[in-house]
Amino acid sequence: MGAVITPPMPSWRGQLRFSRISRVNQQLHTSTMSKDIVLSGIRPTGNLHLGNYYGAVRSFVKMQEDYNCYFFIADWHSLTTHPKPENIQRSARTILAEYLACGIDPEKATIYIQSDVPETIELYLYFNMNAYIGELGRVTTFKEKARQQPDNVNAGLFTYPTLMAADILQHRAKWVPVGKDQEQNMEMARKCARRFNNIYGIEFFPEPQNYYFGGDAIKVPGLDGSGKMGKSDGNCIYLFEDEKTMRKKVMRAVTDSGPTEPNSPKPEVIQNLFTMMSIVSDPETVKYFDEKWNDCSIRYGDMKKQLAEDLEKTVAPIRERIIEFSSDTERLDRIARMGAEKARESAAKTLNEVRKIIGFRQY
Ligand code: TRP
Repeated sequence: MGAVITPPMPSWRGQLRFSRISRVNQQLHTSTMSKDIVLSGIRPTGNLHLGNYYGAVRSFVKMQEDYNCYFFIADWHSLTTHPKPENIQRSARTILAEYLACGIDPEKATIYIQSDVPETIELYLYFNMNAYIGELGRVTTFKEKARQQPDNVNAGLFTYPTLMAADILQHRAKWVPVGKDQEQNMEMARKCARRFNNIYGIEFFPEPQNYYFGGDAIKVPGLDGSGKMGKSDGNCIYLFEDEKTMRKKVMRAVTDSGPTEPNSPKPEVIQNLFTMMSIVSDPETVKYFDEKWNDCSIRYGDMKKQLAEDLEKTVAPIRERIIEFSSDTERLDRIARMGAEKARESAAKTLNEVRKIIGFRQY
């Protein structure tokens, strides 16, 4: 189990250790080298919703100010389910546009597409040589997937954790902001690091830690009365969604028949609406409806109308930027190429050391 660790503020001290730095990256490197390295991978499945935004992406945007961040789109990982070739690039671009629209800045963070960095595969191969069938088979996400797709229990699915370890360790990342569902994969990444270090008797790879946003992350409730906003339709509000669709979804959100006694506790479905309102509306608005709840005069229709309006204010600017970024594939490709260049440089550095440690010729 990964321990919950609060990362220290990044240290601004530290030395410039690399003598040869390409001109393109010089500025970036000198300003970021001494900061702790953060990496997170995003699977290109579907679109971002409000839950993703408040639960993670907004924190990524903050982190890029304080850490040396790598955010990448895990398109190789998505091959475990055999997506259609015509969808591969589109899915990656979609998610790229959405992250950029949310405020990930390619000048501050390195944002790249996994398949643009072939160096990862070599490290993946080395980690596979040190990973055991038994431990990989015990990973819950593997067992779940194997159950879900019994006709396609492929080796890529089985070695998903070693690819993830390569993603992380190629940049020698220290912090990995991921959800609790990734804890076992993170444990495998730590094992890969530890085992490599042990086999070669060298402290080379740091053991990456789960990074929890703590108070920074806000859990957004779902519209169907469930505790958490998830990808199912009707339950979530996508960032790209137009105002009309969003309003419709909000108006259809699950409620009850209303309070019967003053000052009664709120059932979960109603609390969810209030929680959502407290995220996007100003405190006075929440207070107003809270009072209406307490004196039993609340009209859910009014509350939802207000909520939809405030949601629109939050989402509209992001949506506009999504449209802007999505419509310019050349720009997206340019950003992805720039990210890939930076990521490859960082990965190549690690890989060269690894080749030397293992006993191969360096490139
Ligand atoms: N497994 C992660 C997920 O399902 C995606 C991922 C792939 C990842 N490689 C990673 C996350 C490296 C963090 C670090 O969400």
